[in-house]
Amino acid sequence: MSNRKILVTSALPYANGEIHLGHLLEYIQTDIWVRFQKMMGNECYFVCADDAHGTPIMLKANELGITPEALIEGVSERHQADFRAFSIGFSQYHSTHSQENKEISAGIYNKLNDAGFIKTRIISQAFDPKKQMFLPDRFIKGDCPKCGASDQYGDNCEACGATYLPTELKNAKSAISGATPITKDSQHYFFDLPQFEAQLQEWTQAGHLQGEISNKLAEWFEQGLQQWDISRDAPYFGFQIPGVENKYFYVWLDAPIGYMASFKKLCTDTGLDFDEYFNKDSTTELYHFIGKDIVYFHALFWPAMLMGADYRTPNAIFAHGFLTVNGQKMSKSRGTFIQARTYLESLNPEYLRYYYAYKLSAKIDDIDLNLEDFKQRVNSDLVGKVVNIASRSAGFVVKKFNKTLSAYAVEPQLYQEFVDQGGQIAKLYEARNYNQAMREIMKLADKANQYIDEHKPWQLIKEEGKEAQVHDVASLAINLFRVLMTYLKPVLPVMAEQAEAFLNIDSLNWGNIKHPLTKHQINKFKPLMLRVEDTQINQVIEASKQSIQTTEPEKEEDDSMIQIDDFTKIDLRIAKIVKAQAVEGADKLLQLTLDIGEESTRNVFAGIKAHYNLEDLEGRLTVMVANLAPRKMKFGISEGMVLAAGDGKSLHILSPDSGAQAGMKIS
Ligand code: MSP
Ligand code: ZN
Repeated sequence: MSNRKILVTSALPYANGEIHLGHLLEYIQTDIWVRFQKMMGNECYFVCADDAHGTPIMLKANELGITPEALIEGVSERHQADFRAFSIGFSQYHSTHSQENKEISAGIYNKLNDAGFIKTRIISQAFDPKKQMFLPDRFIKGDCPKCGASDQYGDNCEACGATYLPTELKNAKSAISGATPITKDSQHYFFDLPQFEAQLQEWTQAGHLQGEISNKLAEWFEQGLQQWDISRDAPYFGFQIPGVENKYFYVWLDAPIGYMASFKKLCTDTGLDFDEYFNKDSTTELYHFIGKDIVYFHALFWPAMLMGADYRTPNAIFAHGFLTVNGQKMSKSRGTFIQARTYLESLNPEYLRYYYAYKLSAKIDDIDLNLEDFKQRVNSDLVGKVVNIASRSAGFVVKKFNKTLSAYAVEPQLYQEFVDQGGQIAKLYEARNYNQAMREIMKLADKANQYIDEHKPWQLIKEEGKEAQVHDVASLAINLFRVLMTYLKPVLPVMAEQAEAFLNIDSLNWGNIKHPLTKHQINKFKPLMLRVEDTQINQVIEASKQSIQTTEPEKEEDDSMIQIDDFTKIDLRIAKIVKAQAVEGADKLLQLTLDIGEESTRNVFAGIKAHYNLEDLEGRLTVMVANLAPRKMKFGISEGMVLAAGDGKSLHILSPDSGAQAGMKIS
């Protein structure tokens, strides 16, 4: 068998925030795949790094009064500690702010430049005159040019969804200094992506991407490729562009090159041959695991850069969906924005590894971590099924048979059935359909438990002359457990290690399970995994609510509160009741014709008939919601809503103060 040589990466986490359960979906997905490849006997390396450059990191360091270098060093240690705790087994964890990355980035840039793929152009941009720096879009805030909502970011309005240029914002302010930005020109460097159009069209349809992604890309091609701005002016935390004063590579230029740099470091440390993996004619395999939010960078810019600089391109990009918790976006106020560390304080990391495996497939759908389901899944599958097989069998072997398994598998065809499933399970791992792999494994676990249930060793042991049978049943059960733990090892490395200690073997290995362990001495059984308790989950939620940090400027989502943007979505107007009519067949409704200063009047049904005389209503002013989606009612279409106050008995429609006129907007 000729072994494959495989290099695998996960996306590089930004060095200005903590690792959370969303990130971990990706690192666990990748780690399972890498562990599986190694178990198959392939040579497989897994590299990653902190993504250390860019304006947010520079500003955060400023804010903390430390250097960016000090900031990223501390964060890197914390990230790596988190990854270790979840058994993410990187071959190398590096930083994009490294000598290797500086050299390779400069090298690639120079090659692209020599080949005519770098262009320059003057662009005008918002500039903070106080801080003397250009402002990225997310550091400019102001009023939306479309709807007027205040406190909106530089490129899109969260209130009305409009997109615009930062220069179009009204009352724009720098989010850093509060100064009013000015517009300033500067020369920028561009990577000329359109030159790669034909090559990329081909590459993106050649089986390197998931189907959903290829389709998305086809849309982008239709819109036409744009040149990519790869330079940023000083001050910036990054690498200076070779031969250019005061200009730096945009963080996303040197970030993917960080994959190569991390591998380069591994090569230097271990004697691996870098060129064998990155030369154009390489026969090794290269895979990038990423989230669906960064596909553009990995499926267009990155392969184009590699093509332009004469390196090999990836065999595949494996994108995954986003994590939701209890069906919703992770939220700090709900306590579902869970950091790796907060989780670790109360829960076993292998629970999460299993649950993610149970949910993950090769698709890019979002993945929901439902905490109730999480608890039940772990308790029923791992504790109730898998561990149970060993815990109910080990005692007999240890106490009655001198810890020694019997001399043969008593039901060879059952054992063989477990072994035969290995091929299918391996295929599912390879194709990243972990969810199906877990289901196959649990089906086998059910079978093993059924086998024990049918033979009832706890009863047999009380019967005379049945000792040998108890020995055989318990020994076979332990052998079936061994096969299952081998299949689960990529997902549960720590539990697998404990199982190895219990089984008294070197290492659970796909190639070894063909034959059962016979006449083999095992060790005393210790519980391999405890049940998840509600209290532990509640602790995590509570602690996550408390760890709300000012460092993460994310919007709060408290369901009972609305933001000003939500309120401004409601178009409230002064309306004049031109006509009020009874509605035939309805005892509560009145049909109102309202003038809100538009060309045509609005027809609104209001449940106020019992409270008003028709004549008293006609001619008076009130308040209506003018942008309520029209509702079809039995008597016609209602085109809005009239506002009224009431206590359940009486009802009073609102009136504006004197001087108000039909059509006025309320804010
Ligand atoms: N620094 C860039 C990646 C550069 S790669 C050359 C970045 N960093 S990140 O910290 O924001 O995200 C790192 C990875 O975690 C990305 O693949 C991202 O998609 C993934 N996830 C971040 N939040 C996530 C969820 N809530 N759910 C699933 N994956 C998530 O992007
Ligand atoms: Zn708006």
